[in-house]
Amino acid sequence: MSETPKSKRASLSTAAPLKRLWPFVRPYRGLVALWLGFLALSSTATLSLPVAVRFMIDRGFGGNDPSAVDRWFLGLMAVAVLLGLATAGRFYFVSLLGEKVIADLRKTLYAHLLRLDMAFFERTRAGELVSRLSADTELLRSVVGSSASVALRSTITLLGSAAALAWTSPRLAGFALIGIPLIVLPIVVFGRGVAKRSRASQDRVADANARASETLGAIHTVQSYARENHESNRFSDAVQIALHAARSRIGMQAALTATVIVVIFGAITAVLWVGAKDVIAGTMTAGALSQFVLYAMLGAGSAGALSEVWSEVQRAAGGMQRIEELLAETPSITAPTQPSPLPLPVRGEIRFDAVSFRYPSRPDQAALDDFSLHIQPGETVALVGPSGAGKSTVLQMLLRFHDPASGRICVDGIDLRSLDPAALREQIALVPQDPLLFAADALENLRYGRLLASPDDVTAAARSAEAHEFLSALPEGYQSFLGERGVRLSGGQQQRLVIARALLKDAPILLLDEATSALDAQSERAIQQALERLMQGRTTLVIAHRLATVRRADRIIVMDHGRIVAQGTHDDLMAEGGLYAELARLQFA
Ligand SMILES: Nc1ncnc2c1ncn2[C@@H]1O[C@H](COP(=O)(O)OP(=O)(O)OP(=O)(O)O)[C@@H](O)[C@H]1O
Ligand SMILES: [Mg+2]
Repeated sequence: MSETPKSKRASLSTAAPLKRLWPFVRPYRGLVALWLGFLALSSTATLSLPVAVRFMIDRGFGGNDPSAVDRWFLGLMAVAVLLGLATAGRFYFVSLLGEKVIADLRKTLYAHLLRLDMAFFERTRAGELVSRLSADTELLRSVVGSSASVALRSTITLLGSAAALAWTSPRLAGFALIGIPLIVLPIVVFGRGVAKRSRASQDRVADANARASETLGAIHTVQSYARENHESNRFSDAVQIALHAARSRIGMQAALTATVIVVIFGAITAVLWVGAKDVIAGTMTAGALSQFVLYAMLGAGSAGALSEVWSEVQRAAGGMQRIEELLAETPSITAPTQPSPLPLPVRGEIRFDAVSFRYPSRPDQAALDDFSLHIQPGETVALVGPSGAGKSTVLQMLLRFHDPASGRICVDGIDLRSLDPAALREQIALVPQDPLLFAADALENLRYGRLLASPDDVTAAARSAEAHEFLSALPEGYQSFLGERGVRLSGGQQQRLVIARALLKDAPILLLDEATSALDAQSERAIQQALERLMQGRTTLVIAHRLATVRRADRIIVMDHGRIVAQGTHDDLMAEGGLYAELARLQFA
């Protein structure tokens, strides 16, 4: 099914988006069959109760045979037992189905999100995505696991009791028939309003969640600026708006329920009135009227339940639609259908050919402008230049987080666009500008570089990065928990850990973006020596503001405004006397 976004909007007010759940339900057809089987049983039992009651009244009480009373009561018991067992079975299988379907949906959605490109994450808030993963799927779980079941059961009971009513007394049922359009109409009309309001309130919930997770993630900044009140007010505002949206939905739902109940019970009362006169006139037995009343109540109860869950279903449809939108996001950075194999081992030759690039969120400004650079295998090239010159962007492009607008980038002569991004990234170890550690222990953080690294390899990498000493001094050594984003380590320690992680990856291309900027001169020199040993036989791109860090590079590229303004060795550039000499004069003076 290929729908345009426009027609998706149009179907907003129906339960149509729930159809997209089918692929997730399909694998569990067995469970669906069991559920439906038990549903049929329990519905039969429910619908046969009024008949049992009728015979009990007319034959049991009305007749003069005391043993008949026993028989009918035993029959009633049997129906009750059957009803109990069938209901339990139905509940068990449909709840299990709901859990399984939603577990799969969440796994699929998460796996999908992880594969989306940087451009997507630059325009989306992580907290909002988490909200969709949790709040929206939760909504769906309640629908698949319970509301859908109630809806189906109520529909069956409603149809069944309608048929039974007609069979019990066609005349009375005829009266009841008039009520049906009066019931269906409000369900449809209000249901649409509920779906629209539900989507709005879920959006507001996602906003509030996103805001909370951002704030808690930056709690240090919040407290250091004493902005606790400011933040709690902002959150209150967001929650308040969500509450407001929810109130409007609940009001709608309540109005729907009230309308349905009034209409239904009004109809029942009217019909009973007529029926009571029939019994008095002797054209109907008391048992038959009891049976009729029980069916009418069953039917009315089901219609009420139906109107209630129908809005739940609409709500879930809103949630599914939002999930659908995420699942419909396609990464623009993907592997071609037939990716060129990257010849292993990778030599590490890198070529930027007249690359121009603008970030999607900054279309007016070129981050790279006609950037050309050829790096020999094993060469160490340093990128220097003022802040915002585009140095980190060069590394981003090499990792293919974005594709160039024009020009091309090659590794070992192969255009990055014809490679599988994952295969490319396997060959590159990056130490990013902001070290990012996970809320896990040191060992796990290190092993992120190579998941199956042996303990010896891990310690060797930590030693090279001057991290072994402080890691072993932690309370539980390498097993110490580092806190959220590694906050339990100092800035320089975090950097050393991230360097060790990259070393452990042992990739032929090494990218260091301000990797040693937070270190004191002594540890920087020590790491520098380790890194220089490592750079042997690898292609390395180093970014550093401290020129002392890069002066031994084979070649220094001076960048400004996304362009190369000069290149050469430290001595060449000093002799040339341009931007580099100016920067060097400021730093070494
Ligand atoms: N994700 C992004 N979205 C939009 N614009 C960006 C993004 N990242 C960087 N930029 C912009 O692109 C330009 C180049 O940024 P880049 O990060 O490459 O600079 P840099 O040379 O690494 O600077 P620094 O030395 O401060 O790290 C800057 O003007 C920056 O504002
Ligand atoms: Mg940078």
